[in-house]
Amino acid sequence: MMKNEQLLERREATKVGGGTARIEKQHQQGKLTARERITLLLDEGSFEEIGAFVEHRSNSFGLDKNIIPGDGVITGFGTVHGRLVYVFSQDFTVLGGSLSETHASKICRVMDLAMKNGAPIIGLNDSGGARIQEGVVSLAGYADIFFRNTRASGVIPQISVIMGPCAGGAVYSPALTDFVFMVEDTSYMFVTGPNVVKTVTHEEVSSEDLGGAKAHAEKSGVNHFTAANDVEALRQVRDLLSYLPQNCDENAPHPSVHHFNESKTEQLKTILPDNNQMPYDMKKVIDCIVDDHTFREVHADFAKNIVVGFARLEGRTIGVVANQPAALAGVLDIDASRKGARFVRFCDSFNIPLLVFEDVPGFLPGTDQEWRGIINHGAKLLYAFSEATVPRITVITRKAYGGAYCVMNSKSVGADLSFAWPTAEIAVMGAKGAAEIIFRKEIADAQDKNAKWLEKEQEYADLFANPYRAAERGIIDAVILPEETREKLIRGFKMLEKKAEVLPRKKHGNIPL
Ligand code: HXC
Repeated sequence: MMKNEQLLERREATKVGGGTARIEKQHQQGKLTARERITLLLDEGSFEEIGAFVEHRSNSFGLDKNIIPGDGVITGFGTVHGRLVYVFSQDFTVLGGSLSETHASKICRVMDLAMKNGAPIIGLNDSGGARIQEGVVSLAGYADIFFRNTRASGVIPQISVIMGPCAGGAVYSPALTDFVFMVEDTSYMFVTGPNVVKTVTHEEVSSEDLGGAKAHAEKSGVNHFTAANDVEALRQVRDLLSYLPQNCDENAPHPSVHHFNESKTEQLKTILPDNNQMPYDMKKVIDCIVDDHTFREVHADFAKNIVVGFARLEGRTIGVVANQPAALAGVLDIDASRKGARFVRFCDSFNIPLLVFEDVPGFLPGTDQEWRGIINHGAKLLYAFSEATVPRITVITRKAYGGAYCVMNSKSVGADLSFAWPTAEIAVMGAKGAAEIIFRKEIADAQDKNAKWLEKEQEYADLFANPYRAAERGIIDAVILPEETREKLIRGFKMLEKKAEVLPRKKHGNIPL
């Protein structure tokens, strides 16, 4: 009996982390504790802890007098919507959640279990970085984690939630995972903080401006999902997981119940403006086609000229990639290409069929884009689509011009089905530019140059600003009415359900990184 009581006592001691004062401080900052976070993330009562009694073995700088069971990270497994997940949650109240040799080995242990058992791993990050008193062993601990992140990539979904500091080399674990969530105001990520930045570049910048949720959501693209607070972030993670399979050998869950408000189909009839130079919101198009309220945008604030996200079609998870005419006319630039490519590769890794909505005037011109390598970055998107073996369907709503046409999941790069709305224009470029080039001499010789240009522009538009030339060549499979789109997609994806395509034997490809 004594021994049982001793156990219960020891268990209790693990629950208080760095003590009530530090927990209080955590709460005052608007942050939950590591345990509270796990409770909210997982299904009620499902958490099983592993390694609660693990302690560090360091004795430098007084660490031997500062031993707290669990060593600053809570690890284990549980369920989300009844499905197994592994989790680690860094406890900032214990030595600032700093990563020691043992802290790292606890994280590696759950990562290894996640890999062996084929279930997602979720990391809740809140840490002052490498445990300074430990020195190099803590660095090696980080590297052990990075190695596992890389080996797990494409095998199990990996999700990072940044809920406090995440600085220095520590950022590279989240960066290697599939999705990064950040909490507004309380989280930040950077390789070097404001002080070092000031010393090296003389820039004065706050932590928030340098590496807060907004900066990484809008500028760097490191952050995929921004949440107002911890509770919201964890709710979002649960929601995202409902769209994902457990591992690369499984399919995403397929709920039998789904809803679709038929009146949305009506809206599609008038969703495109009469003038083909006018913008419209592609997200509205998506919303009118997929199951009600199921579109979950990823990377919503980054490279808004392309929209990516998960949705459901009659309950099945699909990955949507769409040009967004409402931002930069939907042009493809470096950021849009990177964003699209990464999403396509995630979907392909995890057997999520791809649906592409296309309205793209081309790649963004300019020295900035060229010198920063639009050639290589654009090639990433091309590569990602070309290597994807999941079912892929494209719907061209309006413009499909030039190289961007090829890149955006054209049939030539492996789309299984390609549909076009009657408003589609599939051509090397827009009629205006085309007329200027191929009729340059005629226009120059004409008395009324402008009238001639307009006449030739119309001639080119009549020939190519429609979907029928492409349909005649079988470059697209069918011209469909907007209101027919949902039904065509449901049937198309059903037809492709058992698609099996094997890539040529290789070690791995060499995507233009
Ligand atoms: C050991 C640490 C620690 C660390 C914080 N603490 N960071 N202990 N190693 N890295 C301890 C503090 O001593 C303090 O202990 C407690 O955690 C809370 O820290 P505070 O400073 O009081 O909290 P706050 O004011 O909120 O500031 C948080 C912070 C700051 C900005 C993160 O603690 C800080 O700057 N820490 C050092 C960050 C750092 O330089 N890390 C190394 C980065 S290099 P007490 O006992 O007082 O509660 C790195 C390399 C990784 O990580 C390379 C991987 C390849």
